[in-house]
Amino acid sequence: MIQHAGTALVTGASSGIGAAYADQLAARGHDLILVARDAARLRAAADRIGRETRVSVEVMPADLARPAELAAVRDRVATDASLALLVNCAGLGPLGPSLDSPAELYDGMLDLNVRALQTLTFAAARAFAGRSSGAIINVASAVALIPERFNAGYAAQKAFVLALTQGLAAEIGRKGVRLQAVLPGVTRTEFFERAGADIGQIPAEMIMEARDLVAAALAGLDAGETVTIPSLTDLGDWQAFEAARFRLGPNLSHRVPAARYGLG
Ligand SMILES: NC(=O)c1ccc[n+]([C@@H]2O[C@H](COP(=O)([O-])OP(=O)(O)OC[C@H]3O[C@@H](n4cnc5c(N)ncnc54)[C@H](OP(=O)(O)O)[C@@H]3O)[C@@H](O)[C@H]2O)c1
Repeated sequence: MIQHAGTALVTGASSGIGAAYADQLAARGHDLILVARDAARLRAAADRIGRETRVSVEVMPADLARPAELAAVRDRVATDASLALLVNCAGLGPLGPSLDSPAELYDGMLDLNVRALQTLTFAAARAFAGRSSGAIINVASAVALIPERFNAGYAAQKAFVLALTQGLAAEIGRKGVRLQAVLPGVTRTEFFERAGADIGQIPAEMIMEARDLVAAALAGLDAGETVTIPSLTDLGDWQAFEAARFRLGPNLSHRVPAARYGLG
């Protein structure tokens, strides 16, 4: 179980993966603050969770792509001493090749998938480091590891989420703050519908239910994983990937270019 009892703030809690986090964190006894744009859906979820569990659930409607509304959520994260867990789940993405979507769409995605996530992550990281406790869960995507297989702009934003989480884990992990990047594969949510795509075109054996994804991700958090890939059958594949990455380390910065470039 999560080491630090207290309130969990979940962004993107009105549907899909974020809604599943809200349910499962309530079942673990966390009080909740639910964030998304759709206030009516948040209130309906809060009422239901309040009836079904003993936790207290507050809704905080906000469009995280809007600076003033993001700032209000950031300030809550920074100052609410009861906060023990931040789940950055709000996100959106286009499907298909990057150039098939209008350029403005990527600016909006950057505001939500990158800027808002980074702002809330740093606010929580500072507050949690000050208390030597707390956990930050950032929902990235498996496409962070295979940008060649998906929309390049979206994949790059999810690679940012992965790198931010790994880097911060190295910086503040020793201060008692837990960081976890979750890398879902295809998950049955409104994500595809919102992007104008049909999840029915994807083979059923590739699609995970949101509740299963979140249950696995929380098990990964309990196990102390910094990176959780719920679909990955063999953990050894990830460990080999990480070992290869760190083997590059000693040769990533030298005074002279490598001999193979033939520069003498
Ligand atoms: N589904 C997949 O296959 C998949 C795979 C890998 C990663 N992911 C990631 O998982 C996360 C959750 O997505 P999902 O699959 O659960 O999709 P979803 O059902 O569409 O949920 C997206 C959530 O983000 C919220 N949101 C969207 N724009 C927002 C904004 N401007 N401000 C605040 N909240 C906003 C939505 O609520 P409102 O509309 O009420 O604002 C909703 O609660 C995303 O980060 C996504 O990139 C999904």
